[in-house]
Amino acid sequence: QETKGLKDYYQNYFPVGVAVNMAALSGKTAELVTKEFNSVTPENDMKISVIHPRENQYNWKNADAIVDFAVSHHIKIRGHNLLWHTQVPNWMFRDSTGALVSKEILLKRLKEHISTVVNRYKGKIYAWDVVNEAIDDNPDKYLRNSLWYQICGEDFLAKAFEYAHEADPKAALYYNDYNSENPSKREKIYKLLKNLKDAKVPIDGVGLQGHWKLNDPSPDLIRAAIDRYASLGLKIQITELDVTIRGPRTRPKPQSDNSVTLPVDSGYTEGIANLQADRYRAIFQIFRDYKQVITSVTFWNVSDRYSWLDARNGGLAGGAAASLNTPMVVRKAYPLLFDENLQRKKAYWSVVKF
Ligand code: XIL
Repeated sequence: QETKGLKDYYQNYFPVGVAVNMAALSGKTAELVTKEFNSVTPENDMKISVIHPRENQYNWKNADAIVDFAVSHHIKIRGHNLLWHTQVPNWMFRDSTGALVSKEILLKRLKEHISTVVNRYKGKIYAWDVVNEAIDDNPDKYLRNSLWYQICGEDFLAKAFEYAHEADPKAALYYNDYNSENPSKREKIYKLLKNLKDAKVPIDGVGLQGHWKLNDPSPDLIRAAIDRYASLGLKIQITELDVTIRGPRTRPKPQSDNSVTLPVDSGYTEGIANLQADRYRAIFQIFRDYKQVITSVTFWNVSDRYSWLDARNGGLAGGAAASLNTPMVVRKAYPLLFDENLQRKKAYWSVVKF
């Protein structure tokens, strides 16, 4: 019993994954990753700004390290991501004078980027988040007004999938987004996916990020979203699951002096631990019910020692926060199944006892 990990409890359902950075590849965290999980997603190291910082320069170091770690431990790998409106460097959209490039040039650069990255990990990365977060949150708008959209119109969507498919015809290709359960956004994502399917674009599924709260979205809305997307014949992956114990985020004043040790909030009470365990139980009940269409569930970060949500709450950039000890963080989200000492939380047991 003690030797089982999440992946073992869920072996008849779906791979259970986790977002990793370099810090997760060694020491106690790496032990936990290999014991509990059978899938990983690089948290940042395959984003364009990291892997392709300049037009003629790729930085493979961290991405290679993650892929090698996963391959050597027989862990599946989801690639993340090939196109996003953020964590993408300026050079992609601009010429040497700083002016925006033409659609033709941008698509040429996109193709070069996608072909190179996907080809490097061909046969090792089984699924890619090809396009991330292209839908606008404003109910009155459809596509996000990113530079991709401003320069290419809608065409960048289909092109990204086509380039990825050409580079690795066997990789499963996903569209990935957050708030995908919100009915208004859900219908826009549905429309985007349907347009791609109707145009015979090579797309296999949709990633629901799953950055959820204790009571939002409701189980009914989660089920409705899965039903809706699955009706298009697409697979579903839960790509970035975490359940923050916080309500709406309020950003505290940024701490300019990082040498000051701020009090860690002591907000993780037993009552909250119980609520979170109940919430996780309900969420995984849904995932099990939908095992025919859900082909992976990935957590966004390993343990409450470091969550990207803490980084935000502390007003620090993710990478900066990752290298700091927890006392630097003022408001913690406690969103994961393992605590700050990498021990299993009550929520862990609610997920594996069924
Ligand atoms: C986050 C990382 O966790 C942070 O370290 C980074 O500073 C910002 O990006 N949606 C996504 C992920 O698709 O790539 C984001 O990851 C979280 C939201």
